[in-house]
Amino acid sequence: MSDDQSLPDDALEPGTVRRVGPWAVGSSGGEDFAVSRRCRHQLADLSKGSVDADGCLVCPWHGSRYDVRTGRMVSGPKGFLAYRGRSPGYTQIVLAYGRYLRLRVGRVVRGGGRLRVE
Ligand code: FES
Repeated sequence: MSDDQSLPDDALEPGTVRRVGPWAVGSSGGEDFAVSRRCRHQLADLSKGSVDADGCLVCPWHGSRYDVRTGRMVSGPKGFLAYRGRSPGYTQIVLAYGRYLRLRVGRVVRGGGRLRVE
């Protein structure tokens, strides 16, 4: 079966993130997770991200990190977007927004050799 609403149930290797419909799906700490795919910063596709050593989902564009259990942003964008010297509060503003407006959290369901999100 080939569709974008499910994956083979062996598709989630540790540290990788995959797309299932509107969800970014991965494995963190040995547990499956599913969160909505659009980063709260500039809408990058989080299914192209990665899982770091702390089990957080890392945005592929500017490195914002998310707690996949709650959808909460735990650290804001990095690099030039910190705007050092011009707007020192920018990262903190994005972080506050990401903490307030969390990613949606879905439930990964396995069955019939596939995984889906409810
Ligand atoms: S779009 Fe995700 S951190 Fe910028």
